[in-house]
Amino acid sequence: MKAIAVTPKEKNSVRLVEMDKPKVGAIKDGRGVLVEVLRVGACGTDREINNGEYGVAPKGFDFLVLGHENFGRVVETGENVKELQTGDFVVATVRRPRGHSIYDKIGEQDFTTDDKYFERGISRIHGYMAEFYAESADFLIKIPPAIKEIAVLLEPLSIIEKGLKQASDIQERLKIWHPKTAAVLGTGNVGLLTMMALRLRGYEVHGFGKQARAGYLNAELCEAIGATYDSTDDLSIADSTKKYGEYDLVFECTGYSPIIFDAMQALNENGILILASVTGGERKTDQVPSDKINQMFVLGNRAMVGTVNANREHFELGVKDLALCEAMYAGWLSRMMTHGVKGLENYEKIFDILNNSAKYNAIKAYFEVNKF
Ligand code: BGC
Repeated sequence: MKAIAVTPKEKNSVRLVEMDKPKVGAIKDGRGVLVEVLRVGACGTDREINNGEYGVAPKGFDFLVLGHENFGRVVETGENVKELQTGDFVVATVRRPRGHSIYDKIGEQDFTTDDKYFERGISRIHGYMAEFYAESADFLIKIPPAIKEIAVLLEPLSIIEKGLKQASDIQERLKIWHPKTAAVLGTGNVGLLTMMALRLRGYEVHGFGKQARAGYLNAELCEAIGATYDSTDDLSIADSTKKYGEYDLVFECTGYSPIIFDAMQALNENGILILASVTGGERKTDQVPSDKINQMFVLGNRAMVGTVNANREHFELGVKDLALCEAMYAGWLSRMMTHGVKGLENYEKIFDILNNSAKYNAIKAYFEVNKF
């Protein structure tokens, strides 16, 4: 079968490879499921791995099959799989509990404290940019056919669901927390999905991006679900609080780390800042008003939390939000899926879109691997 692989830490090594079709029997306890891949999304993580910034090949291999945003159909099941049947649509989670930490042992591997983590398509396990994959049913989420067209968005959404779940868990410290306003920094696909999840929860939502509003599809999508869009060239996060008030929740997903200090200062008393950008670079910043920020956090009981990866429960929350979004804002999610590329062999096209997303006006680029 065909797959898309890189040599980790080698710049621009992405290529097509030929591999054996995986076997259900290779998964232990009769829990194996063979999945035909239908769609695979591509994101900044895939771009950064292909840039040689990170990524680890599985043991015994000198290459890593990419891909973690996935959607497929079950074609075969092991004898102990009762919850899935041939023909079911599924999305697989990304991280596996193969570490030594207590969190791996209790199935909360998204909170692992190990330095080495095991993630399909990213670190130490082959990913889903392939015609088939085999996986234990324990890591597969069943997808209702009604959301099949947009289910490849579930994996990125799961990260947001985890962030929002953590925020509500942390805010239980308050006994009463009735958040009303939120700012989302970054309006790429993660930012847009975050805004959607917050609108579904009834927040007044303000999105901030780099690009000018006029003619910008992402800005249009913000407004289509009743959120605002501002370009930070016209309105900084700091100044935005004069217009919109301070925010009960701020979700950062720009990938531009210096902005987090502005975000901290835009929080309301008792508010919470969620950081979701994986910033692999070396950027540093000074000119941070540290006394002010420290005092705001202390006197105002503000909180900040980082969030990475997602567990089964976050994927399941995401399934519900995708279905609710289709009901409330029909067709909105499909508008995010701007660049479908047919066939894994056209990987160069996908990476060109990833590297030049502004030129392409791309929100979500994905492979259409097989028809459904
Ligand atoms: C993936 C996560 C993963 C993270 C760090 C993200 O792109 O969506 O599942 O944990 O990268 O590797």
